[in-house]
Amino acid sequence: MSGYISDDTRKVTTHRLIEMKQRSEKISMLTAYDYTMAKIVDGAGMDVILVGDSASNVMAGNVTTLPMTLEQMIYHAKSVVRAVKRAMVVVDMPFGTYQGNSKEGLASAIRIMKESHADALKLEGGEEILETVNRILSAGIPIMGHLGLMPQSINKYGTYTVRAKDNKEAEKLIRDAHLLEESGCFGIVLEKIPAALAARVASELTIPIIGIGAGGQVDGQVLVIQDMLGMSQGFSPRFLRRYADLNTIMSNAIGQYIADVKSSDFPNETEQY
Ligand code: KIV
Repeated sequence: MSGYISDDTRKVTTHRLIEMKQRSEKISMLTAYDYTMAKIVDGAGMDVILVGDSASNVMAGNVTTLPMTLEQMIYHAKSVVRAVKRAMVVVDMPFGTYQGNSKEGLASAIRIMKESHADALKLEGGEEILETVNRILSAGIPIMGHLGLMPQSINKYGTYTVRAKDNKEAEKLIRDAHLLEESGCFGIVLEKIPAALAARVASELTIPIIGIGAGGQVDGQVLVIQDMLGMSQGFSPRFLRRYADLNTIMSNAIGQYIADVKSSDFPNETEQY
């Protein structure tokens, strides 16, 4: 069996993630949205599990992350938290629950933390959401920022292509990253930006920078689990490495089951009472 084996069973905390950056140990992060998957991911030794609002795409079949509700995120987060012993569980605040109104943002944040028992929250945005970030942090809730391609703003961009390729957007991203660090965020996800820009942010900041489509010179990596396991189809950005072809494995297994039922091969003598 190949893979990662560690005997460190201590719970991953914000403090431990910052220590990992200090000793140049890369941080592993992957999404999960349900109990069964989260148990496998945690058991494999993942550092951070993200209950991403990408659940909107991969679990609910929506085109964007915008329809995700607070109740749906709490449901997914509770399912994941029940399964996890070691990894830090970070939950995405869904679109419309924190932008533009910091008091509402805090109320949404408190609901997620109280009802799901997750460890931290992730919010998309920089300067524009700073008041909300500060209010949530002042309640003692750890926050991970998210800059670069921010899927909740897809209607503003109009496309999922690489962000911050021009100087103006890159300078704003760097400013926003510093603002988030100064506010007290414990980490930042950088999505789909040039590798050199991500490397610069990671070297300027003391908090961990987790990349997705942001190159290798950052402090850790995150992917969507259905994508890296090859369950989803028709989505193959350059940054996505597929570690398995579960679509084929699952389709073959399900096809075999159908054939066995149709031919009365299943159940056999030993598979009944
Ligand atoms: O929702 C999500 O899965 C994310 C990752 C892509 C970082 O935000």
